This record gives sequence, structure tokens and C-alpha cells, in this order.
Amino acid sequence: MIRIIGLIALFGIAMVGLAFAGLYGLSEAKLHDVSYDVAFDTPIPTDAASIEHGRHIARTRGCFGCHGQDLQGKDFGEQWDWPKRAVAPNLADYARNHDDATLEAAIRQGIGSGGRALMSMPSFNFARLTDEDTAALIAFLRSAPVVKAPLPSAELGWLVRWDIVRGAETGLDVWADAVPALEHDPETEPGLAHGEYLAMTMCNECHGLDLRGEWMWGPGPPDLYIVSALDRAEFEQIITTGTGQDGRDLGLMGLVAPDRFPELSQDEIDDLYLFLSSLEDKPVPENVFWRPE
Ligand code: HEC
Ligand code: HEC
Repeated sequence: MIRIIGLIALFGIAMVGLAFAGLYGLSEAKLHDVSYDVAFDTPIPTDAASIEHGRHIARTRGCFGCHGQDLQGKDFGEQWDWPKRAVAPNLADYARNHDDATLEAAIRQGIGSGGRALMSMPSFNFARLTDEDTAALIAFLRSAPVVKAPLPSAELGWLVRWDIVRGAETGLDVWADAVPALEHDPETEPGLAHGEYLAMTMCNECHGLDLRGEWMWGPGPPDLYIVSALDRAEFEQIITTGTGQDGRDLGLMGLVAPDRFPELSQDEIDDLYLFLSSLEDKPVPENVFWRPE
């Protein structure tokens, strides 16, 4: 009798083990089911001005906030409970140990080294960076001193793996693909086109892939057409301090804005303001997956 119970228990343990192994295998297969754009072949500049421009891109796009002020990497630990443990790698180190195409795929396409979709890195915010700005960014990362700091390994939780397998959660390669194309022509509408470029590579991380508000996880950051209700000085104050009108706490915006946006030039703020104010007259796209009914 005891022997039979023992066998049944062993069988049960084996089945549970198999189920976890299956879930692991299927979720990894899905994460590796990615398609690349043509390999990045823009030459990486070496001159000081381009490297300084690359630093400006890194600062205003938040690389420092998430990867550490010395680019030494960062453990997000319990803050983002769903991936279990997200760990942003040491970027100065990574940039020296990976080729241009691998770096570009991580930055703009949401595909990590080894061809595995990223799960936490907001590549969709950088999907529309130009080739030149991406090359300058890579030049800067390779020039930045390597500061070593111990980092734990990243971990993906079983619930997320289950969501990936049943299609409720996707890798960020899918998000990067969904970012709308830029509409304004730099030749005929230079100010609007520049403002659109900045907003679509700085603000769509949180305000929706098309800047028109994102509600996938419940009430979120607003549709940026609201900028038309602000004057230029109020707008500058909000984005450079991350504090709302009358000192209102803006949550996540308050955390990232002071780290990223104070070094925007007056020209950049002018063009951002011009473009975002123009959203008022444009329809909000429907049927997008990040803004369900
Ligand atoms: C909101 C936080 C956040 C921001 C902003 C961010 N990253 Fe990341 N990044 C991560 C995390 C977390 C990872 C680890 C992979 C993952 O979990 O998706 C990562 C991974 C990477 C990787 C390695 C991909 C791989 O092979 O695993 C590179 C390269 C990278 N980031 C570059 C950048 C650059 C360049 C910027 C700025 C333009 C940037 N990141 C901004 C969070 C961020
Ligand atoms: C990391 C996420 C994040 C990024 C990046 C971000 N925002 Fe926000 N933003 C928020 C959140 C969160 C709020 C506040 C929502 C609330 O409490 O109403 C907000 C609020 C705002 C507001 C409304 C302020 C008010 O007084 O109600 C403006 C304007 C704004 N953001 C502009 C921008 C612009 C422009 C950019 C890009 C340059 C940007 N944000 C980038 C998260 C972000």
C-alpha cells in the first residue's frame, strides 16, 4: 500500500515537473520567434561632436535612469513584480562586447542578444530614432567608461511565461513594430517634423505608442493633445520638473522627467510644444492593442 502511494506521489511530481518544463520550452520558443529588420550598417562616428550628441540622446531618452547614472546596470528587483526580476545590463560593457547590429536590434527593435525578445526594455520608445542618432548613441556608449557593479541574473516568472504561451503577453519586439510611422515632412514642415520626432522617441514610452493616451493597465498618462491647453512656459515647467500645474505630483513623470528633460534645448522644447499642440486637431486612432475599448 505504502509503495503504491509512493509511486503515485512520484508520478505526480514527475507530471508537475514535465508541465513546468513544457511551459518553459514553449515560452522560450515564443520569445525567440522574432523577425529582424535589415542588419544595421550605418557607420559609427568617432568625432567628439557626434559622441556628445550621442550622450544627449542617451540622457533625454532615459538610458541613464534605467541603466544607472554610470551605465553600470540596475536591478529592478521587486519594483516590477511581473517579470519577477528585471535587470538592465551594464551598457558601457555591453556596447563594447556586442556588434552594431545587435545593439541596434536591442535599442530599436526590442530584440536582445541571442535573438530573444526583450520583456522590460522600452524599445518602442526608440523605434523611430534615426540611423544617425542611433549610430551616435552607440558611439557614446562605447566611449563611456566601464564602471563594474555586481548584478543578479534576470528572471521571468511562471505567470508571465503562461501569459506569453497563451498570447496574453507579448515581447517588446511586437510593441516596437506597432509604433506608427512619423507623418510630418522635415523638408516642408521642419518644426512640426522635429517636434514629432522628439515626442515619438521620448514621450510615447508612457503616453501611448501614438501619444494619444494609453490605458492598457487602467487609467494611465493622458493623451498629449492636452498640451494645447498649456502656454509655452507652463509646458516647459511641467516637462523639466515633472511637477504638474499647482505643484501636482505626476507620479512616474515626476521620477523620470527631472532625470531626462532639463537638458532639452529651447529649440527642442519649442518644436515639441508646436507639434504636441497640433494633436488637438487630429483624430485619435482606434483599434490599437495598447488602448482597448
Ligand atoms: C524603463 C527602463 C529602461 C530604459 C529607459 C532603457 N532601458 Fe535598456 N534595458 C532595460 C531592461 C530592464 C533591460 C533588460 C532586458 C529586459 O528585461 O528587457 C534592458 C536591456 C538593454 C540592452 C540589452 C539587451 C539584451 O541583449 O538583453 C541594451 C543594449 C539596452 N537596454 C540599451 C538601452 C539604451 C541605449 C537605452 C536608452 C536609449 C535604454 N536601454 C533605455 C531597461 C531600460
Ligand atoms: C515614464 C513615463 C512618462 C514619460 C516618459 C513621459 N510622461 Fe508625461 N506623464 C506621465 C504621467 C504618469 C503623468 C501624470 C498622470 C496623472 O497623474 O494625471 C504625466 C503627465 C503629463 C502631463 C500633464 C501634466 C498635468 O499637469 O496634468 C504632460 C503635459 C506631460 N506628461 C507631458 C509629457 C511629455 C511632453 C513627455 C515627453 C517629453 C512626457 N510627458 C513623458 C508619465 C510620463
